[in-house]
Amino acid sequence: MFNSKFSRPKIVSVGAGNVGATFAQYCAEMELGDVLLLDIVEGLPQGKALDLMQAGVVREYSVSIKGSNDFADMKDADVIVISAGFPRKPGMSRLDLLEKNGKIIANICDYIKRFAPEAIVIVITNPLDIMVQLAFHLLNHPPAKIMGMAGCLDSARMCSFIAEELGISQKQVNAMVLGSHGDLMVPVPEYTTVAGISVKEFISAERLEQIVDRTRKGGAEIVSLLKTGSAYYAPAASSARMVQAILKDEKALLPCAVYTQGEYGISGVFVGLPCILGAKGVEKIVEIPFSDENKIALMKSVEEVKQGIQSLKELGFAVS
Ligand SMILES: NC(=O)c1ccc[n+]([C@@H]2O[C@H](COP(=O)([O-])OP(=O)(O)OC[C@H]3O[C@@H](n4cnc5c(N)ncnc54)[C@H](O)[C@@H]3O)[C@@H](O)[C@H]2O)c1
Repeated sequence: MFNSKFSRPKIVSVGAGNVGATFAQYCAEMELGDVLLLDIVEGLPQGKALDLMQAGVVREYSVSIKGSNDFADMKDADVIVISAGFPRKPGMSRLDLLEKNGKIIANICDYIKRFAPEAIVIVITNPLDIMVQLAFHLLNHPPAKIMGMAGCLDSARMCSFIAEELGISQKQVNAMVLGSHGDLMVPVPEYTTVAGISVKEFISAERLEQIVDRTRKGGAEIVSLLKTGSAYYAPAASSARMVQAILKDEKALLPCAVYTQGEYGISGVFVGLPCILGAKGVEKIVEIPFSDENKIALMKSVEEVKQGIQSLKELGFAVS
């Protein structure tokens, strides 16, 4: 009787594991568009999609969520978010995932080139900065249309720790974490505020340094507690936030792993920087004044990414 045709954005989540499925859930709750879960495990994306659709009756969202093992179904995607790959186990660094996840990213990029070459791509898979660099090289996408998710997550972690320290609402804290998504990430207390007031007015330099250190190790803290996988609620929420900024053309200022072309004196690598996200993807990388200390920390972070890219080359991957 009814044969309605909906015209909603199409969001493809490649990887229907912990991050991918939770990301689909947040996108549905936020009604950002129709979601397709893609995974190589038969039945997994289909089962999770059915479950999420049924949850939507109670949670009152009106979008479609489907699951598939056929990568041709990514056709017409507006945004593709890649979380396919192995997560860390206790004691592992993100770099330990380089070879296995590199192969997975290469495989997925082949499909994107064939079936959805116009889509905006967000990479989540670790080691993040290196996997997004690999995807950029393989897809030959314009820099605006490919980015990595890490800064939103690392900033959320810092906000949460500051709110806990002060005993106030998390909503009133704004933090900025830049650089690579690793031990050398660069939390920037100068640009961290509580209801618009510098965090330095509320927390001593010494205590702030401890919070910065906990932020850098925020992922490992969760890995060591979970023992069998890594964080996924906050990573999924951060990815949905980026997709929201793109699909709603928000022009939101968010820290993302972006391709540098001379900004902050850095060129040719992906690293976390503040940028404007809108309908065209990364519409601008925003250059803010940095203390000498932060500049040095950012450069160390860039070196970490470059070393990771070199390791990937030594493993035989074609990446520039
Ligand atoms: N960037 C970040 O800040 C951040 C945060 C959290 C997790 N991660 C990373 O995200 C990745 C996923 O984490 P998770 O917790 O969801 O892991 P998970 O094991 O729960 O899920 C990974 C999924 O990927 C699927 N997969 C493997 N190869 C595939 C392929 N070729 N095509 C499609 N799907 C494939 C697996 O079947 C599995 O369902 C990991 O690499 C993790 O380190 C990154």
